[in-house]
Amino acid sequence: MNLADRVSQIEYAIRDVVVPATELEKKGITVIKLNIGDPLKFDFETPHHMTEALCQAAKDNMNFYGPSEGLPRLREAICKREQSLNGRTCNPGQIIVTNGISEGISMLFGALLEPSDEILVPGPTYPPYMAYTRFYGGNPVSYRTIEEEGWVPDIEDMEAKISKKTKAITVINPNNPTGAVYPKKVLMELQRVAADHDILLITDEIYDEMVFDKPHETFPVTDAPMVIVNGFSKVYLATGWRIGYAVFCNCDELKEGVLRQARIRLCTNTLCQVAAAEALEGSQEHIPLLVKKLKERRDFAWKRLNEIEGVSASKPEGAFYIFPKIPARDDKKFVLDLLKEKHVLFVHGSGFCPEFGKGHLRSVVLPTIDVLEEAYNRLEEFVKAHC
Ligand SMILES: Cc1ncc(COP(=O)(O)O)c(C=O)c1O
Repeated sequence: MNLADRVSQIEYAIRDVVVPATELEKKGITVIKLNIGDPLKFDFETPHHMTEALCQAAKDNMNFYGPSEGLPRLREAICKREQSLNGRTCNPGQIIVTNGISEGISMLFGALLEPSDEILVPGPTYPPYMAYTRFYGGNPVSYRTIEEEGWVPDIEDMEAKISKKTKAITVINPNNPTGAVYPKKVLMELQRVAADHDILLITDEIYDEMVFDKPHETFPVTDAPMVIVNGFSKVYLATGWRIGYAVFCNCDELKEGVLRQARIRLCTNTLCQVAAAEALEGSQEHIPLLVKKLKERRDFAWKRLNEIEGVSASKPEGAFYIFPKIPARDDKKFVLDLLKEKHVLFVHGSGFCPEFGKGHLRSVVLPTIDVLEEAYNRLEEFVKAHC
């Protein structure tokens, strides 16, 4: 069978490296997996009031198809969160609930892109922003983020890369894979560039409350077009529920284009939407505890990795990743050889951007410190032996 061209180019580095790891596991070998950003695979649990609400919704027979744009209660709660956390005023009519941000990215690019259109993405970036752009026939264009300055966007580079074909600028803050948290000044510059060129800004804020050293700043609502994407996978520890959302500011047509796609997939999981509303309306006590735990692990990872000769990492200020430079040009080979020899799994930096990610790897900092220590000891042995 001949597969469509649009799928032949799809890559997802974070999951692609799992294939050789699974082969090792089939042989009975235990692999320390530091590749996937899923807190639920480590010692983190979905807050109890959320799981209770989920069970209760099922018992209350809310087992029906919901509206394609999402349950009104959830969209109302999202507006309240936007107001209280970010001072941004919006109404439920601006919101579409999606099967995670992932589906939101797909539907946004599905509505935006004609063949050879361009999306500006951070270099390095969360890979689906590149993959979905290609899927819809477009070209992702990476703007540099500056490692020496804590991986903040290089505004000049971004502006120079805007062309007639640029349909959107994507910003991920806090960032995956670098853990960078952008200063207000940089955000304001970024927003100015987008407005000056009349280009849509897409802001991915999925790690917004996971910050360690300074508050999370974000874009205010202006009269320029902007889409905010967010969800329940990270801060609310519910990766498997697949609930995310997009808030459309000054872009009604785009919202309509996304809604048409949302209608053909009927709706997102109704029960999980009820529980997601409960997450926003109920206790937020788990968040400071979560941040405290992550900060301790971030501190350890950053210190230990920088002790390894030839390895250097800038300090992540948010999310739960670290993106050290490694002493190897072929980072994919490095990661796969390390897996084979030392049974530790990272993701190669070039999977997040061939140009600005190469020569790096991404590690999650989610495991307990003893697991991180064991993994980084093995990394050190490997670097000493081969680099
Ligand atoms: C920046 C970023 N956006 C979106 C996602 C995916 O979110 P969701 O689970 O809501 O699809 C991730 C997951 O790692 C991410 O890092």
